[in-house]
Amino acid sequence: MNPIDAAARPAPPRINPLQRIWLRELGMERLWLRTPAAPAVKAPVGPSAGVSAGPSAGSSTGASARASVGAPSALSGGAPAAGLQSAIVAPVPAEARPAVPAIAPPAEGAQQSSPAAATPAEPPSGRASSAIPASILNRTGPPPRPAPKVEVQEEAPPPIPVAEAVKDANLEQLAAQVVACAACGLCKGRRHAVVGQGAQPTRWLVVGEAPGEQEDRQGQPFVGRSGQLLDAMLAAVGMSRERDVFITNVIKCRPPGNRNPKPEEIAACSPYLMRQIALLKPERILVLGRFAAQTLLGTDATIGSLRGRVHHLKTDEGAQIPVVVSYHPAYLLRSPSEKARAWQDLKLAARDL
Ligand code: URA
Repeated sequence: MNPIDAAARPAPPRINPLQRIWLRELGMERLWLRTPAAPAVKAPVGPSAGVSAGPSAGSSTGASARASVGAPSALSGGAPAAGLQSAIVAPVPAEARPAVPAIAPPAEGAQQSSPAAATPAEPPSGRASSAIPASILNRTGPPPRPAPKVEVQEEAPPPIPVAEAVKDANLEQLAAQVVACAACGLCKGRRHAVVGQGAQPTRWLVVGEAPGEQEDRQGQPFVGRSGQLLDAMLAAVGMSRERDVFITNVIKCRPPGNRNPKPEEIAACSPYLMRQIALLKPERILVLGRFAAQTLLGTDATIGSLRGRVHHLKTDEGAQIPVVVSYHPAYLLRSPSEKARAWQDLKLAARDL
């Protein structure tokens, strides 16, 4: 045995049976287990360089030893097997090695030569024979592979809940928020979000259900046939959307095919309406249709039981706004005989409440 090698060995640590098998295969079992002479040159005990000369890559015993010794990078990335056994420094069991800094896992294929293995051993730095790889003597070894560049995806900040976002918004900011809103799936199918339209300051706030096709196209509430009927109804009590009334909906985006809005869409959208009420401070609210009435009044009562009387909506500021419920104009278009009842509702809303 090369005296330097022998001297370079640290005191043999305890080895497990698999390591013993491996040493036996390398023909080093006895050498390894012998007590070394006093070290002349202390062999480095490196994280990976120190064990860079593992068994030949094809050895099945070597493979199991790799698994057991637990130094995959050193063993798989080691120098070529040929000629190394004479120069090898005894493998250092994992527990005797310093912690290995986190580096990239070895590339696939244990045969892949490391730079140190591919290059002939560098001239030793005057400390030992050229038979000892510089990687062992100098503890330089193959340069650790750079860790793969992990693209750190900047996580998008979680969306601010609508109720939080609208808290301090003025009407203009609120309108911008509605237009940009993506709080529910309805934003995907909309042409326009419909914020609302009308007079400011507002005497009446008229609340419908959700934009229909025409409203979605034009971005304004109640512009179709329902809208024409609504304008006529308002005119009958001396009100106009230009002068007295602000018109909006519970849901600001059109549900596909005019289906009923889903509970999660209502929950996502209703903070906009509540903020509109807080900002517009209407004298009263006229709610059109079962859906809007149930949502605003927080009830599942029928429209028949809700209309014909005055409700009150308590605002966060402590105000009580009178609320009158009536039929939706679209329903009145389908059921003209109900217009008489709607007329009663309008007169109730117009009364000094
Ligand atoms: N129906 C509604 O409820 N709102 C509109 O804006 C249009 C039709």
